Amino acid sequence: MFRSLIRARSQSSSPLVTMSSITQRGNARPLSEAAGSHSRDKILVLGGNGYVGSHICKEALRQGFSVSSLSRSGRSSLHDSWANDVTWHQGDLLAPESLKPALEGITSVISCVGGFGSNSQMVRINGTANINAVKAAAEGGVKRFVYISAADFGVINNLIRGYFQGKRATEAEILDKFGNRGTVLRPGFIHGTRQVGSIKLPLSLIGAPLEMVLKLFPKEVTKIPLIGPLLIPPVNVKSVAGTAVKAAVDPEFASGVVDVYQILQHKTTPS
Ligand SMILES: NC(=O)c1ccc[n+]([C@@H]2O[C@H](COP(=O)([O-])OP(=O)(O)OC[C@H]3O[C@@H](n4cnc5c(N)ncnc54)[C@H](OP(=O)(O)O)[C@@H]3O)[C@@H](O)[C@H]2O)c1
Repeated sequence: MFRSLIRARSQSSSPLVTMSSITQRGNARPLSEAAGSHSRDKILVLGGNGYVGSHICKEALRQGFSVSSLSRSGRSSLHDSWANDVTWHQGDLLAPESLKPALEGITSVISCVGGFGSNSQMVRINGTANINAVKAAAEGGVKRFVYISAADFGVINNLIRGYFQGKRATEAEILDKFGNRGTVLRPGFIHGTRQVGSIKLPLSLIGAPLEMVLKLFPKEVTKIPLIGPLLIPPVNVKSVAGTAVKAAVDPEFASGVVDVYQILQHKTTPS
């Protein structure tokens, strides 16, 4: 019955102003089957305007949660209707003060902030920026923290050393500050539809068949020196989003490091 209900979103009177601008707030959205038990959960997605982050925002809204996002550019450039139901904050994790207003009243944080560049840039964005967020969330009394990290690719790790150095440093900070209320997802290649400007890249054309084949191999093959990590199955962005939301709101969800094979077990809902 709850599925069919529409609830008017309350227009908060408290200012949500962050570094420079805010945001659009929707007026109505569906309540999900989960809303009864989790309706008080407020999820902040760091990097909610990115590829993985936008799928996480969409999935969390679909389940009836209150969703906000913070990134340097603020509102998503996507014109999809769900984007109107997200509260968009503008801020920079490398300037942690800009994160504080967005953390007010937040119960769970999911960080999708990460990226590539020079070695030192990769340490900063995958490590320093996220470590700032973990510290601010812990100080702000956030209950659960989820981080989209990355699977280990063996010797390939050496080619993008700063990326993995940053990822692992953030993971350690989460486990230290959040203990069994922190979750680290370690996907390999994430396939799905990636929006680049006005173009939708169908990454699943390659990713989906590879996922189907590679997940038939036992997990142990990925431990074979050199070629093993290349056999890590890609995973659909919807499975990553569903797993991240579950980790963010379900106290019974296993904390700690969640590998590709656990993410693959997540049943996605057709959109
Ligand atoms: N895509 C994959 O196949 C894959 C595989 C394994 C792991 N991952 C990990 O999954 C996460 C998400 O990946 P993605 O592909 O969705 O990346 P993406 O599309 O590039 O999204 C990154 C997000 O981070 C935000 N951001 C970057 N620097 C920031 C800062 N200093 N402060 C605040 N926000 C910042 C960006 O928005 P602004 O530019 O507006 O700030 C953007 O929303 C990353 O950590 C990545 O390493 C991805």
